[in-house]
Amino acid sequence: MRTVITFGTFDVLHIGHIKILQRAKAYGDRLIVGISSDALNFSKKQRFPVYPESERKSIISALGCVDEVFIEESLDLKGEYIKKFSADILIMGDDWKGRFDNYKEICEVIYLPRTEGVSTTQLIAEIKKYG
Ligand code: CTP
Repeated sequence: MRTVITFGTFDVLHIGHIKILQRAKAYGDRLIVGISSDALNFSKKQRFPVYPESERKSIISALGCVDEVFIEESLDLKGEYIKKFSADILIMGDDWKGRFDNYKEICEVIYLPRTEGVSTTQLIAEIKKYG
């Protein structure tokens, strides 16, 4: 049983999110997703996500390729989460390339290419145009 873990905000779900989760699952048998908390997002971007963490968690939990979801309370706890879930592989989008190489001591670390031309930030900007 190989366990894959990945992390992200996953706000305003889009095809890039689905593709990275499906590709991540293909590396193992069990996919665990850490959804960054509302507070963590606020500390990183000075704004709260459109969907609160409870709804982002429910949405991602409903996907067939996802086996378990939890709320990521702090960026500094990644090592603890990897150990807690006995993850064999940490997978992140390549916007994070190199940033998590320190976890190679405890698991495999893989960065997957992002899907071109879509992001939550871009979608929010598009939707605002309709206001
Ligand atoms: N992701 C991806 N392709 C995209 C957008 C995101 O593969 N076009 C991946 C990211 O690399 C990350 C995961 O999806 O591993 C969650 O990313 P997240 O930051 O929640 O999505 P973004 O659309 O990048 O959000 P934002 O614009 O708010 O940064």
